[in-house]
Amino acid sequence: MFSIWSKRGLGVVLLAFLMAGCGQKSDVTQPVETGVTGADIIAADEHPDAWLSHGRNYAEDRFSPLAQVTSDNVSDLGLAWSFDLGTSRGIEVTPIVHDGVMYVTGTWNVVHALDARTGEELWRYDPEVDRSRAAYMCCDVVNRGVAIWGDKIFTGTIDGRLIAIDAATGEEVWDVLTVDLSRPYSITGAPRIVKGKVIIGNGGAELGVRGYVTAYDAQTGEQAWRFYTVPGNPEDGFETSLMEEISSTWTGQWWVEGGGGTVWDSMAYDPDLDLFYIGVGNGSPWNHRRRSPEGGDNLFLSSIVALRPDTGEYVWHYQTTPAETWDYTATQHMILADLDIAGETRRVIMQAPKNGFFYILDAATGELLSAENFVPVNWATHIDMETGRPVEVDGARWNSDQPFIQLPGPLGAHNWHPMSYSHDTGLVYIPAQEAPWAYIDDPDYAYQAGVWNTGGDFFINALPSDAAMFKAVKSMMKGRLLAWDPVNQKQVWAVEHGGPWNGGVLSTAGGLVFQGTADAHFAAYDAATGDEKWKFFTQTGIVAAPITYELDGEQYVTVAAGWGGSFVLGYGGVFPTGSQAKVGKILTFKLEAEGKLQPLEVARAVNSVPKPITDDPAVISAGFIAYGTYCGICHGDHAYSSGLVPNLRYSSITTDETAWQSVVLGGALANAGMPGFSDYLSRQEAESIRAYVISEANSDRTETFYEEVSVTD
Ligand code: HEC
Repeated sequence: MFSIWSKRGLGVVLLAFLMAGCGQKSDVTQPVETGVTGADIIAADEHPDAWLSHGRNYAEDRFSPLAQVTSDNVSDLGLAWSFDLGTSRGIEVTPIVHDGVMYVTGTWNVVHALDARTGEELWRYDPEVDRSRAAYMCCDVVNRGVAIWGDKIFTGTIDGRLIAIDAATGEEVWDVLTVDLSRPYSITGAPRIVKGKVIIGNGGAELGVRGYVTAYDAQTGEQAWRFYTVPGNPEDGFETSLMEEISSTWTGQWWVEGGGGTVWDSMAYDPDLDLFYIGVGNGSPWNHRRRSPEGGDNLFLSSIVALRPDTGEYVWHYQTTPAETWDYTATQHMILADLDIAGETRRVIMQAPKNGFFYILDAATGELLSAENFVPVNWATHIDMETGRPVEVDGARWNSDQPFIQLPGPLGAHNWHPMSYSHDTGLVYIPAQEAPWAYIDDPDYAYQAGVWNTGGDFFINALPSDAAMFKAVKSMMKGRLLAWDPVNQKQVWAVEHGGPWNGGVLSTAGGLVFQGTADAHFAAYDAATGDEKWKFFTQTGIVAAPITYELDGEQYVTVAAGWGGSFVLGYGGVFPTGSQAKVGKILTFKLEAEGKLQPLEVARAVNSVPKPITDDPAVISAGFIAYGTYCGICHGDHAYSSGLVPNLRYSSITTDETAWQSVVLGGALANAGMPGFSDYLSRQEAESIRAYVISEANSDRTETFYEEVSVTD
């Protein structure tokens, strides 16, 4: 979560930038009659023809033993097939491959089954989600993939459902609602399946929800257990004594907003320890003093929590960021591994969360073994190994009337984009980034349902008009592929990219690391040195992580290309990277293949600039505030669209008051993902937004700091 918008909407603000033991393996195979079992997922290395689980195995290491494609021959890698997802929205999916079939998700939770050899579509399942729920998506209408178990495929939807589909036919088997639809919940993460239970979390902390994960019986869809990550309203009675216990770490009336703590992405499972791990998200609202005014660590925000997969029973937790206040989620990818630490082999769980520190914990107990920053950070000096807590810097905690320009910001030093742990090099490859942010308290904060609630005002110096300053901001935004030695907690090599928000990572026994980039390329690097060995122009930016599998003696490498997600919606237009929208694709490569992508249509409609409808600064500034609150999250900072959704500056609808009102208030395009705002905006406010957008189109800001980047090889 990431927003530049305060609850009062004061601003889409560029300054912000400137500124054990009990597990039995046999259990794991239950209760599947046919198809994929837990034993298969555990023995993923024995199934090179498959990619059976989100992170490839329960350890989620995303390291493949396949070694046909190597540093020496990767230059012969070519496009074997591509499948057009027919969407311009972000594509974050990790495909699942089984029995020669690849299962992927596209926009609006459509599931496609593809022939893994040819890309031919075998079936397509459309859950017909309520597209108006797009209004509750913090970070694009994305999905990170399906799960497989037995003979079924499982997928979560943006309208909070978990659905089982027959893997062979694409027929729906069951469909359960996992959330209270009166709150702004959504699902973007991939389910994980352990011992016949499908486990799914949700998102929505920015908008005001209470986080939890739920386990459902894979056969029937019946709920097995639910684990809340934060306590509810004490007056309703606590569900468990654990909830009561952790409620002592909260103050104020956190339950009004819900508290947050959503589990929207990462999970992992250790079959020997029989522990299931969840990564817990940020607080709602972000600002701790507005969420829990009398203090408190606010468990289990920003924590890794270990549970028993049979019952959801709590075993241990480690909180990365006590009293979280910066959107520092611990939902980032977690990897289990055996590492030699101080002469001893330890079973560990590793995470590089948003807050910039790389953590190694004992997987059985949660004991902190080491933590070092993997990018520059300025909010804490180090992690105190005695207490396990970060040693914070004065001023970082929103407690002055001056903004604190912080590294990392809410985009994180590492966001959801999966990392990878190579068993050969012993290195963790992290899609890392530097993206600063200025945090400032909003003393007048009051919760407003259905929109972003940060508890901060980010409006200071709201409208930079200076190109040099803009370039300076841009130059602070960095992205890199980082090879990290977890044992010694130090960088081994790094490849600098053009900016942040690059793709997830795959490493292979072929000595390669694969990653896609924001600037529309898919590349292979030598795992030991970081030398670039191969590169392919993908026409659109990549945020998803690649996979690999082998069929008929040939190794395939697949990546989903499709520029999108929070950063892109908000800033893709302001910080162009060379990515085009509208070409979301599944791309599959193998040696000696010579496929070509259809040439890119570089049809950028350059419509005429609409005539101003008012020059009243009060109207335009009211429009700016309302735009920041309700529109900027999708249509972009300063109405600079990334191209994922229409560029309002040049939309013909902007020139037509009736059409504008019917779209913006009436919800005429709600089925296309453009929610109607009649619950929030009056006619007059909608008009002021129109006036603001048109004034932006006529402003000289376009020339001053928008530089178009051409989309080329
Ligand atoms: C959740 C994301 C989201 C939010 C928030 C959002 N929009 Fe949209 N908007 C869209 C999408 C997606 C479309 C394209 C729909 C389609 O394909 O026709 C769109 C289309 C439009 C269009 C039609 C443009 C055209 O040329 O077809 C207008 C006008 C518009 N939005 C205005 C607004 C305004 C004003 C706000 C704030 C009050 C807003 N939108 C908030 C996602 C959003």
